[in-house]
Amino acid sequence: MQGINKVGIFTSGGDAPGMNACIRSAVRTALHDGLSVMGIYHGYQGMIDRNFVEMNSRSVSNIIQLGGTILKTARCQDFQSPEGRKQAYENIRAAGIDALIAIGGDGTFTGAEVFSREHGIPVVCVPGTIDNDLYGTDFTLGYDTATNTVIEAIDKIRDTAASHDRLFFVEVMGRDSGCIALNAGIAGGAEAILLPEKETAIEALCDQLSLAANSNKSSTIVIVAEGEKNGGAYHVAREVKARFDFYDTKVTILGHLQRGGSPSSFDRVLASRLGFAAVRQLQAGETRIMVGIQGNKITSTPLTEALSNKTVKLEKDMLEMVKVLAI
Ligand code: F6P
Repeated sequence: MQGINKVGIFTSGGDAPGMNACIRSAVRTALHDGLSVMGIYHGYQGMIDRNFVEMNSRSVSNIIQLGGTILKTARCQDFQSPEGRKQAYENIRAAGIDALIAIGGDGTFTGAEVFSREHGIPVVCVPGTIDNDLYGTDFTLGYDTATNTVIEAIDKIRDTAASHDRLFFVEVMGRDSGCIALNAGIAGGAEAILLPEKETAIEALCDQLSLAANSNKSSTIVIVAEGEKNGGAYHVAREVKARFDFYDTKVTILGHLQRGGSPSSFDRVLASRLGFAAVRQLQAGETRIMVGIQGNKITSTPLTEALSNKTVKLEKDMLEMVKVLAI
């Protein structure tokens, strides 16, 4: 035990299904281990505004199944400055907080690394983002739920696409990661998938679509990752329509639907394991690490390593498989 008595916990960056399950696990683990817990609303902004709430076991009742985050989240400009971080530090020390658990993505981790180095407060991070774009973990919180949300949407779109013999372009989130696009595209039986990690020229896409058209498919769905290089679903649809005027094309942008919803069982279990591990790592004296899951084992990765390694989690054989299964 490193003399930790009160843990502060917050969520930051884009919300993700599973964040509440993680908050619940971290709060109850800390309380079980004799620590007290302070919730910090609105991430780093809440530290600066001293927007805190004492938490007990009842504070996290009936939230494991809720999407979003009961501690709210925000992106915070003020925290970019040393003055803002100093104000935050004074506030958390005044509240008796002597360690932090941060649930969020790479932006959250960057802030945690700087803040902990600058002021010496122990911080453990939990990878919470639907993008699944973080090094040091096979999965981030919310990715599985978001992928299932996309699959449900694809199945619905395929009903109407088949009824009208239409070609749909469905744009999904993921920022610069194609994890959601690739896995939801495969599970949804998409005819083509455009990814940030692997450029697909419009002509090559049209070759794939020609095969679909020539094999009398009743519906055709192309999944477009928002970060792919052609410029997104509307642009790709226009380019394809210009070459294949016979196609009746439509575009659906799934947007923030992918950020909500009740977390899947996978995300609930992952969240519970990571929240539990974060508290235990703090008590073991760890700081400036990210807890993650690798090969179903809970691991720790230094934040500097997690932040300096770009990770591509797409298996090459899956890209070739997409083409084969679309015949
Ligand atoms: O990082 C999660 C994410 O949902 C990305 O996939 C998406 O590009 C971004 O957040 C959207 O950010 P905002 O909610 O601020 O519009």
